[in-house]
Amino acid sequence: MASRPFKQFSPAEDEIWRIMYERQLPQVERHGTRLWLDGAQMLGLQPERIPDFARLSERLQELVDWKLVSTDIQYSDGQDWFEALARREFLVTEYIRDRDSIDYTPLPDIFHDAFGHLPFMAHRRYADYLQRFGQEAIKFKKDERRSLGSLWWYSIEFGFTWEDGVLKALGAGLMSSYGELQRALTDEVQRVPYSLDAFERIDPSPHRMHGTLFIFESLDQVVASLDDWLRVHPPREAVPQTI
Ligand SMILES: [Fe+2]
Repeated sequence: MASRPFKQFSPAEDEIWRIMYERQLPQVERHGTRLWLDGAQMLGLQPERIPDFARLSERLQELVDWKLVSTDIQYSDGQDWFEALARREFLVTEYIRDRDSIDYTPLPDIFHDAFGHLPFMAHRRYADYLQRFGQEAIKFKKDERRSLGSLWWYSIEFGFTWEDGVLKALGAGLMSSYGELQRALTDEVQRVPYSLDAFERIDPSPHRMHGTLFIFESLDQVVASLDDWLRVHPPREAVPQTI
């Protein structure tokens, strides 16, 4: 994918970022994993304006040897996304929701990508895991990896974890959504220990709120969940070439 310069955001767009950042930060400081909190500090995320992605990309390169790539893709079928992960490239959607839909956007935007995902990416173990996720995902055809998409959804986007016996949000989708994080902590949502069997039975949809979410013991268990999935869904052997 040819890279292009990062967009310059307008003061009005920076203002939407600021409103969302200032509203979400107290909630994230209280209920978010320290992985996110440490990462946000390492990247120097600030409420005042949408990050300078060229500089942020340099910072990620120093920390974990990943780079950011500007994209128009807002909701792909996963192929471009997984191919980029496999190359240690994180696609950044350079669009921010408008002021009237601050509470919910069905499409990932810059607040989701930058506020939700990037702090996690400052940690090498996490960043290495996402690369491996991409490398494994592209070994499968799209219709063979549907439940791998669910694994992504319920761990990387909407997972919980324990820290010192306290439940903490681990998913980027929870970290970047005021309403989803609030709701995910109420009785409207069943929070159950991760098991591959349980989550494979759930049909995920990005456009509705979730009734069941999964708690991972630790980042180790998140990393191991990909191996669990691969044991149940081994990639098909490459067909030998006949001469
Ligand atoms: Fe995401």
